[in-house]
Amino acid sequence: MNKKTFKDVDVKGKKVLVRVDFNVPIDEGGNITDDTRIKAVLPTINYLVSHKAKVILCSHLGRPEGMFNPKFTLAPVAKRLSELIDQPVYMASDVIGDSAKELSANLKAGEIMMLENVRFHKEEEENDPRFAADLANLAEIYVNDAFGTAHRAHASTAGVACYLPAVAGFLMSSEIVAMSKVLDNPKPPFVVILGGAKVSDKIGVITRLLSKANTILIGGAMANTFIAAKGGKLALSRFEKDKLEVAKKILDEADRKNVKIVLPVDFVVASEFAPDSKKKVTNSYDVPDGYQALDIGPKTIRLFKAEIKNAATIVWNGPMGVYEFPRFKKGTMKIAKYVATSKAVSIVGGGDSISAVNASGYASRISHISTGGGATLKFLEGANLPGVEMLLDKD
Ligand code: 3PG
Repeated sequence: MNKKTFKDVDVKGKKVLVRVDFNVPIDEGGNITDDTRIKAVLPTINYLVSHKAKVILCSHLGRPEGMFNPKFTLAPVAKRLSELIDQPVYMASDVIGDSAKELSANLKAGEIMMLENVRFHKEEEENDPRFAADLANLAEIYVNDAFGTAHRAHASTAGVACYLPAVAGFLMSSEIVAMSKVLDNPKPPFVVILGGAKVSDKIGVITRLLSKANTILIGGAMANTFIAAKGGKLALSRFEKDKLEVAKKILDEADRKNVKIVLPVDFVVASEFAPDSKKKVTNSYDVPDGYQALDIGPKTIRLFKAEIKNAATIVWNGPMGVYEFPRFKKGTMKIAKYVATSKAVSIVGGGDSISAVNASGYASRISHISTGGGATLKFLEGANLPGVEMLLDKD
């Protein structure tokens, strides 16, 4: 990476504002249900603490739309982080107010504090320069370790870098280095697996990867749009009517570039979009009247398995079916196991794919699990990430 990192600056005794992405899932009872993103930042925090920095953590959580909402407080995250690193994490009750100012002014070397949810201020998403300057005033150095939010040009991810020496954290640099290594020179056969609801979310990724991949496996509701574009019968299945032309163009382009696109050949279908809906398996990709496709079928799983087994490089983003309904998560779970146990160099991104890989018990065999959702897609598209662009270049 051509950007300076936290190791290129002297942090000893300095107040360091660290933008992290602690946008973690929290259940109704306020419990964190997946702390992957908190654990992913520990190398940066541990380094700063052991090098006697005064650590000021800043994150968003959810989309509180610019106002205080107790549902989106970062207090449970501060508590979880404190348990993980076995030292206090002092929680400010605001972002740039008296509480944040007082705590940061009194912070000692090696201590950690956390600001409240930065999206409690509408100025954050507006990338307001005054707000960015107020954030910067709390510290002397800025470290951006929020890879998951690097595609947002917000005050705490980009604007603040105008006012402080700005460098990348360990997670930010390791995400970029790991993914660049695979994408710059992928060993063939390079198999890309895409799922999720919408073709529209993945057009950029497909377009770029058509020049690099040998095979693209498509599942999830986005596969329905491709099947509809080929004249398949989808009955009640969800698909994007306004993206049929785009899907056709992608299929033609793949033909021209000699990239194999593999679509589902059977489905698990149900009469309703509901967790307890009765399911059955179709014989082909044609869905019977009154039904909708909610997962890939067994023949498709076998087809995808053969491609995955043969791959030397794999990139996977997005579930194969309605992963949130346990009855319709089998396709995603199987793919997770095949990817994780394959010998290929593999990158997995996106919440459901990561959760499936974790549940497979083989997550440690994935070469790189990306903490980003939208940011990973943007990176795979080859887009510039504002949270990285703003950092200091290496000399
Ligand atoms: C994510 O979960 O993808 C990041 O935290 C960014 O969140 P956002 O989509 O609300 O900006």
